[in-house]
Amino acid sequence: MDIKGKTALITGGGAGIGRATALALAARGAGHIVVADIDGAAAAETAALAQAAGSRALARAVDVTDLAALTALFAEAEAAAPLDIVFNNAGVVSGSPAFPDIPLARLLRTVQINLLAMMAGTQLAIDLFRARGARGVIVNTSSVAAFAPMTQDPAYSASKVGILNFTQACAPLGESHGIRVNAVCPGVTDTAIVKATGDGVTPAAWLAPALARVKLLTPDDIARAVIDLIEDETKAGAHTVVQNEAAA
Ligand SMILES: NC(=O)c1ccc[n+]([C@@H]2O[C@H](COP(=O)([O-])OP(=O)(O)OC[C@H]3O[C@@H](n4cnc5c(N)ncnc54)[C@H](O)[C@@H]3O)[C@@H](O)[C@H]2O)c1
Repeated sequence: MDIKGKTALITGGGAGIGRATALALAARGAGHIVVADIDGAAAAETAALAQAAGSRALARAVDVTDLAALTALFAEAEAAAPLDIVFNNAGVVSGSPAFPDIPLARLLRTVQINLLAMMAGTQLAIDLFRARGARGVIVNTSSVAAFAPMTQDPAYSASKVGILNFTQACAPLGESHGIRVNAVCPGVTDTAIVKATGDGVTPAAWLAPALARVKLLTPDDIARAVIDLIEDETKAGAHTVVQNEAAA
């Protein structure tokens, strides 16, 4: 898909990979970008940056686990400018204390945000595209954790496996409806989520050995992979792994 003039909706767009992707879309001439995030001020900042880069943009404070709010967000975005691209990207790690000391509610919330909201966002986008008989692209943010169970945060790695599997199951929609659903699987990337494994300032001690072994990716590295999944018409049910290089 040629991004120029197209419209996009991004969840978790207030920071990190979501923000970098919003700006990469704007740099390629996206016409309208809806930036949704539970942090409304952060979403507004991203929208302002996208506007400065030449796109029209709208920011909304939305918790993606609130199905009514998520449904209203998609409806509002579609009404403002029919959607072409949806990036289901909002995600969290379970945080501290780690599994198995984690409170049950936090374990389940990780799955609600990462997996169930991604499924809802994908279905909502498919419904909108099909109602118009339009082609469309959906990208879902999985992780390299989909390939390596995280003993300290199994809710995270299991949710990322689920995202990948759900995305792969959508492959036939490319052929049948012109709706391409793809996943990006980032390696460890320099965003706030890494510190959220610990106290929000310092990553969890259990992550330190892994962090020492690799060079962190940047959000722009991941945004490039997302842009490729949007632009490459051959990709449906596909995933791109963005691997870390070994530390120098
Ligand atoms: N950074 C990494 O190392 C890494 C690696 C693999 C995958 N990922 C995935 O990339 C995605 C983006 O994360 P990031 O690294 O940019 O981290 P980030 O913390 O910078 O961005 C995540 C964004 O999601 C938002 N968010 C959290 N819960 C939300 C909710 N309930 N509703 C709406 N928005 C919500 C946050 O406010 C934040 O702006 C996530 O799905 C994450 O799991 C990150």
